[in-house]
Amino acid sequence: MLLSEEQDDLRERLADLSMFSGKPLEIHDKISSTSDRMTELAKAGAPEGSLVVARTQAAGRGRLGRKFVSPEGGLYFTVLLRRKEVLGEAPTSLLMGLASSQAIDEVARVATYLKWPNDVLLEGLKVAGVLTEYAEVSDGPRLMVGVGINVNVPMKSVPFLLRSTMTSILLQTGHHFDLNDILAAVLCWFQGHLATRAEGKGPLLIGQMSDRMPLVGKEVKAKIGRETIKGRIMALTSSGALILETKSGRRTVAAGEIEQLRGR
Ligand code: BTN
Repeated sequence: MLLSEEQDDLRERLADLSMFSGKPLEIHDKISSTSDRMTELAKAGAPEGSLVVARTQAAGRGRLGRKFVSPEGGLYFTVLLRRKEVLGEAPTSLLMGLASSQAIDEVARVATYLKWPNDVLLEGLKVAGVLTEYAEVSDGPRLMVGVGINVNVPMKSVPFLLRSTMTSILLQTGHHFDLNDILAAVLCWFQGHLATRAEGKGPLLIGQMSDRMPLVGKEVKAKIGRETIKGRIMALTSSGALILETKSGRRTVAAGEIEQLRGR
């Protein structure tokens, strides 16, 4: 399919999603980063629900300043929201992680799960990640939610150094999937989660996330900036932070990275 046909196909699939229907939509063959492109569009006044998709990214960005390898076969996109993140509510990035996990399971019939805060794992390896960038600018709050999903990425495109941590849906199932099928499913779940949160039912979504996090109840090492703490994950708070039971009492971890401690 030509890129313009894929764009028309996606537009049709999003016609029933009020947040995305009729909004600016770009699909690029190759771009530096969909989030960089979305920044340009946002500065030019693009509305909430704008969507930038790319088939490959030359300078994909990950969390914590990391590079996000974006070979052909993957699904890379950024959604623009123009609303405030409210303290104490389920954060939008976590909602997108949940939506991505649910969409992959639905389309590819697999069982992904979440590694806090919002990595999506399949058979112990990372299959998708979310990078949310938030800014309060002169025209109001701007939230860019970028997602990378390794859909039809073959082994030869996985950098050697990432082979023990990264996978793709193709590598796990042996099947190729339509990128627009997955994208439309992610956006449908995501729109639904935003509506659920707006109805004050954020805790329900936190429960769904927690159910998809096998490390809840386990002993982990949490890296918070330069500090590392060890503890058992007791629960997620209503704002998606981790509550860790450590030797010196309970700690709430709102941002960082976790690793399971062997055998605990
Ligand atoms: C992570 O796992 O660290 C987050 C990865 C987020 C990658 C996506 S791909 C689309 C969007 N554009 C980027 O440059 N990054 C995000």
